Amino acid sequence: MRILVIGAGAREDALSWRLAQSPSCDAIFAAPGNAGTASRGENWRIAATDGKAIARRCLEEKVDLAVLGPEVAIAGGVGDRLREAGIPTFGPDRSAGRLESSKVFAKRFMQRHGIPTARSVVVHSLESAFKTLDDWSGPCVVKADGLAAGKGVVVAPDAQAARGVLCDWYPQNRIPGGGSEVLLEEKLGGRELSLFAIADGRAMYPIASACDYKRAGDGDTGPNTGGMGAYSPPAGFPSDLQEQVRERIIDPVLHGLRADGESYVGILYCGLMWTNDGPYVIEFNARFGDPETQALMPRVSGDFAELLSSAARGSVNLDAASFNEEACVGVVLATSDYPRSSAPLEKLPRDLDAGSGAQIFWGTSAIDNGHVRSSGGRVLTVVGTGADLALARKAAYQAIHRLANALSTCGDLTYRTDIAAV
Ligand code: AMP
Ligand code: GLY
Repeated sequence: MRILVIGAGAREDALSWRLAQSPSCDAIFAAPGNAGTASRGENWRIAATDGKAIARRCLEEKVDLAVLGPEVAIAGGVGDRLREAGIPTFGPDRSAGRLESSKVFAKRFMQRHGIPTARSVVVHSLESAFKTLDDWSGPCVVKADGLAAGKGVVVAPDAQAARGVLCDWYPQNRIPGGGSEVLLEEKLGGRELSLFAIADGRAMYPIASACDYKRAGDGDTGPNTGGMGAYSPPAGFPSDLQEQVRERIIDPVLHGLRADGESYVGILYCGLMWTNDGPYVIEFNARFGDPETQALMPRVSGDFAELLSSAARGSVNLDAASFNEEACVGVVLATSDYPRSSAPLEKLPRDLDAGSGAQIFWGTSAIDNGHVRSSGGRVLTVVGTGADLALARKAAYQAIHRLANALSTCGDLTYRTDIAAV
């Protein structure tokens, strides 16, 4: 198969790395790709959101499978354009992708189909929000409706703090993601978990799970980010977690999609809170997670390309690949200004050596005169693998220390020191 990965982050580098090693992969491309994908295939100078140009090039290059990485591509209808052109595509079309691109759409979907999720109210203006908050007790999670790269959610300790967030957002037209609707949601207690289900348009099955660290600082402090690290498999959850999630969430989602006339192909990422009453949905994403994917791909055995291709063609072959029992820990190295802003970094070494038992995936970056130019933010994910979580964690942090010298001249990089310290 000739396979295209769409996107430019460390998730896409990890997907391309695993797909390229699949027995059924003959050639790998990326659009636009990054410094990592450039080392194993051809990067196309096409934006991840330019569906028409991607479809045209796929036909020229006789691509057999396109894999959608980022949410902006899905929300921008790239999947729709590729399917119109007859290209087998792993990733949902724009309509089904609203499970991620609109939190209000997702919440209504869950309410309609009996999927456990936090109680919430949709507000359209500062006035309606303040009215709702008049009767609010306890913490309030304030959520912008649209896509905001993980930055559209604030967990406010009380109604007064929630009012403060809304006063920043509404009068200045500064609602993250650019919409006008906001969800005010009860705060759930428990432990978070990201569960990934694969769908082929007819069926949907849980295949893997991971734990993600969303806050910028150690001990879950600081602002929410796109994700500062992840590990898999998750520790401390019931051994039948996939069955429980399938029964309570995945099967009702599938039923709901059918009832609503939607067809879903790709990964459904369920962001879950494991409460005293079992799993509740915090959010859906219509794609693989970043950085969870970096901590999942080293655990794949078998033909991952065949797994995704069979789903894209409408009949997923679950026997094609599986996740082995190894543990995997991914730690994100980010510029110290992340997530407030992201200053580019120049002249990073191209061939970073993580040592054995570790792997490096590049974030948004390009090769420039033999060096790597990074656009900043989440620069690298360093992943360690091992027989258990402690060994995988040790491998990841040892690799970071090993890389510290090579990276020390390149600017201020920061990372969390408590990923997988469970
Ligand atoms: P989201 O973008 O919806 O995943 O929210 C980002 C983060 O905010 C989640 O990973 C949680 O840590 C937190 N969060 C969102 N909604 C809730 C909720 N209802 N209860 C508790 N925490 C939440
Ligand atoms: N790790 C969170 C996300 O991919 O949205």
